[in-house]
Amino acid sequence: MAATRFSTVLVLAVAVLLAAASGCAARENRRSLLQAEVPARTPKAAAAKLPKPPKTPKPAASPPPSAGPSVAIAIDALNYTGVAQRLTNDTVATIFAPIDAAFISLAESLNISSRYVLFQNPLAVNVTELHVIPGVALRSTDLPQGVPVNATSLAGPTLEILRSGNAVRVSVGGTNSSAEVVRADIPFNKAIVHVINKVLLPV
Ligand SMILES: *[C@@H]1O[C@H](CO)[C@@H](O)[C@H](O)[C@H]1NC(C)=O
Ligand SMILES: *[C@@H]1O[C@H](CO)[C@@H](O)[C@H](O)[C@H]1NC(C)=O
Ligand SMILES: *[C@@H]1O[C@H](CO)[C@@H](O)[C@H](O)[C@H]1NC(C)=O
Ligand SMILES: *[C@@H]1O[C@H](CO)[C@@H](O)[C@H](O)[C@H]1NC(C)=O
Ligand SMILES: *[C@@H]1O[C@H](CO)[C@@H](O)[C@H](O)[C@H]1NC(C)=O
Ligand SMILES: *[C@@H]1O[C@H](CO)[C@@H](O)[C@H](O)[C@H]1NC(C)=O
Repeated sequence: MAATRFSTVLVLAVAVLLAAASGCAARENRRSLLQAEVPARTPKAAAAKLPKPPKTPKPAASPPPSAGPSVAIAIDALNYTGVAQRLTNDTVATIFAPIDAAFISLAESLNISSRYVLFQNPLAVNVTELHVIPGVALRSTDLPQGVPVNATSLAGPTLEILRSGNAVRVSVGGTNSSAEVVRADIPFNKAIVHVINKVLLPV
């Protein structure tokens, strides 16, 4: 199975993205969700089920040019849920990374003010996995115009990706959840990262 071969590459991609994003993240401290505060009101039962904090290798390659909106919370989510640690150096994957504002919007809709309370939601791993397509590194330029491409996410549900002109939209099959790609085609080793404007949800 593709998932079992996963282990390190995304960690590297994630570290690189974090480096790329750190400039933006530093300025965005108005909202508590953006501060990586230690969860204060976490129920003990939920905290006990969390995966152990994973060790993160240093990036093996030089980071891509830094630009675009911050995806620091997405990086934290990948790391925190352990999804990043399941990707190997040779992992071919397409990764959708929601911008910080997307997580803030989702958290507000759930009345949550800490990113860690969000990450401890029982669906957090599923939601994070929903943003990864294993086995294929899809560039926006690979997509046919106006013809949706379906791909199975790591979480299971199908992602439908549609290019219209220069716009690319990704939708979760069987739901109304969708997002626009706001920065496409960020390569890292064998994976391709696309920054999106919303958090995809499996419902
Ligand atoms: C991943 O989480 C670990 C433990 O919390 C932390 O030490 C590490 O810096 C994180 N890595 C990234 C890329 O955020
Ligand atoms: C991952 O790939 C990089 C660059 O190709 C290489 O330097 C590094 O040793 C690899 N790491 C692992 C764990 O295979
Ligand atoms: C959000 O949380 C606040 C403070 O706990 C509470 O007063 C408010 O009713 C909550 N709103 C929703 C929509 O749950
Ligand atoms: C979350 O993922 C697990 C493991 O793939 C699966 O068993 C479970 O049904 C998923 N939950 C939802 C609500 O999709
Ligand atoms: C793609 O998936 C959607 C819903 O998940 C489905 O309606 C559609 O028929 C699929 N298209 C192809 C080409 O498989
Ligand atoms: C999608 O949105 C439409 C219109 O709001 C609604 O009727 C439909 O039930 C929704 N479908 C799903 C799967 O949530």
